[in-house]
Amino acid sequence: MDVTHPQADSRILPATPDAIAEAAALIRHGRLVAFPTETVYGLGADATNDNAVAAVFAAKDRPRFNPLIVHFAETAAAAEAGDFDGRATDLARAFWPGALTLVLPRRAGCAVSLLVSAGLDTLAVRVPSHPVARSLLRAAGCPVAAPSANRAGLLSPTTAAHVAESLGGACAAIVDGGPCPVGVESTVVALGGGSAAVLRPGGVPVEDIEAVVGPLAAAEAAGERPKSPGMLERHYAPGLPLRLNAVEARPGEALLAFGPGPPGAALNLSPGGDVEEAAANLFAMIRALDRPRFQAIAVMPIPEEGLGRAINDRLRRAAVHDSS
Ligand code: TXA
Ligand code: MG
Repeated sequence: MDVTHPQADSRILPATPDAIAEAAALIRHGRLVAFPTETVYGLGADATNDNAVAAVFAAKDRPRFNPLIVHFAETAAAAEAGDFDGRATDLARAFWPGALTLVLPRRAGCAVSLLVSAGLDTLAVRVPSHPVARSLLRAAGCPVAAPSANRAGLLSPTTAAHVAESLGGACAAIVDGGPCPVGVESTVVALGGGSAAVLRPGGVPVEDIEAVVGPLAAAEAAGERPKSPGMLERHYAPGLPLRLNAVEARPGEALLAFGPGPPGAALNLSPGGDVEEAAANLFAMIRALDRPRFQAIAVMPIPEEGLGRAINDRLRRAAVHDSS
């Protein structure tokens, strides 16, 4: 099946009103469009179109058992697809539009393709805050399924150029909204059946979420293990090995510093020691250092608080050695 019409040179469009209207029309016609969100770039498809959703899995080489997030322009539209309980409503009020994804029971008669849920009876929903994403979602007029616009298991893209490098041929268009301001993916929280669990730390700090709904279980502790790539061992992986909690570069290593680092640092996530700045720089800096002239990337320790939790989660998964 070929519904993506791969092109050698995918078109990177500046985020003008005309380009957004064109991108929205492509989505309505079942094509794939990459677009910026405040977290990372997404590979978007009409979530109600089975063929378009299947094309997303194919383009990313993503296992069919790994469900997608559906994006909406407004909370009211998300509430037609997912079943919001009181806590979900409180979280949506507190953090939407924004970098929070809620995994909720699918509503009966929900128009979203079953492929999106990958066989689960739940749906992951999110209302992003990026103005380009919101304009595109409004213009498309349909829910948009969008995983991060990278090949499965590799680093998420935070610029249009990153998308073009890895998935350019699969996209009918890439809408360029500049670098993503948050830089790590959304926090994924599963609600339902009386329990609440963090499936993936991300752009909204877990501490902030717990301030609204109380303590959350860690995904590993949740009785039923949901299938999330966050639960696959190796993920977000660059080509080079990563060495964590480094204090200095060893021979052949590129040092990725945090805070007032040693003079030999190749790049610095945040010279002032700010975890939000570090998150925004994380994927682009790892990509920049992922070059054959180095043998490994050594990363200095990042505090395990606020967005530091999401950063450390990504670093730990990227550092797992591939056993396959
Ligand atoms: O920031 C983000 O979340 C970005 C932007 C584009 O919105 N999207 C993103 O999508 O990171 P993706 O597909 O790379 O990651 C989605 C995560 C995966 O860990 C997936 O397993 C989990 O959400 N997920 C989606 N639906 C789920 C469900 N019904 N139950 C459990 N986990 C789910
Ligand atoms: Mg992803």
